[in-house]
Amino acid sequence: MSTKRVSTTEPKHISEEKLFIHNLVKRDPRAGLAEDVRRGLTTQPKRFLPKYFYDELGSQLFEAICLLPEYYLTRAENEILQRYADEIVATVAGPTTLIEMGSGSASKTRLLIEALLRKQDELLFMPIDISATALESSSRILLQSYPRLNIEAYAADYFAGLAELAKEQRTHTLALFLGSNISNFDPEEALKFLRALRQVLHEGDALLLGADLKKEKSVLEAAYNDALGVTAAFNLNVLARINRELGGNFDLRAFSHCAVYNQDAGRVEIYIDSNREQTVTIDKLDLQVQFSEGEQIHTENSYKYDLENIGKLAAATGFTRAQTWQDQKQQFSSNLLLAV
Ligand code: AVJ
Repeated sequence: MSTKRVSTTEPKHISEEKLFIHNLVKRDPRAGLAEDVRRGLTTQPKRFLPKYFYDELGSQLFEAICLLPEYYLTRAENEILQRYADEIVATVAGPTTLIEMGSGSASKTRLLIEALLRKQDELLFMPIDISATALESSSRILLQSYPRLNIEAYAADYFAGLAELAKEQRTHTLALFLGSNISNFDPEEALKFLRALRQVLHEGDALLLGADLKKEKSVLEAAYNDALGVTAAFNLNVLARINRELGGNFDLRAFSHCAVYNQDAGRVEIYIDSNREQTVTIDKLDLQVQFSEGEQIHTENSYKYDLENIGKLAAATGFTRAQTWQDQKQQFSSNLLLAV
């Protein structure tokens, strides 16, 4: 593990002691992409992993998705946190440490940080995110805003980050997993993740879990197939990324975005469809890939929950669903899971 103090290009008024970033991302991310793209394009049916959406352009496109009129999730969760942040932080007693899994730009986190700073003098924030650059920039912005905040950040994937957190002693903890980030996990993966998170918590600690709710097919499909085409761009950017980083020759105009709600599985399934029969070459993989007309690459699942699912998930992983807050239209849920 390598650790790193923030650089001296830091604004002078942010003392070095306020920010510590542990960098656990050792592996060349490109090596993972190459292996996973080869595997995904040589199996039937073809598939990619959702984490590869988030290169620099993909991350910006996701931020744009959050502003779309059809993509209600971000606004609904914001509405909940605006309204109930004080109530949420009151569920954990005494001085509290704040952990966040997949903090990204950490803009919704501010509401909880502010609520915690209303009840305690100082706050330690421990974000875990796969992107070291996102962690550095969001941490700087937070430290500028909140002089009573300290940050110890982990640039790591979820499981590696949790393994590090398990080694340290903490005060009572409130953990955050926001934005329905849980929705990319298959049911077994969700169980595995929540069990790993439960292991770093003590009885009485809490997890705030943001989960999008099951609803009409038309509303869900519009959220993942917006009129402006931003979600289509986000999805097809994976092909553009393979062209850029792996020397692919995907013709983006020969593929289309597709999102369908599979009601039986309770998930929106996202695909890239091949508009015609075609062959694609990927130089750095020394690979030729055949597509038939209408053949799909499965790029993402977005699981939708109901409160009963969430209660069962909690009960199976050492938590209890103590409280749930919803937005006025009841589209999204913020669930306080207590470690028992
Ligand atoms: C980041 C996984 C919560 O599933 O809603 C948004 C990703 N994909 N539009 C979601 C996504 C297409 C998003 N999550």
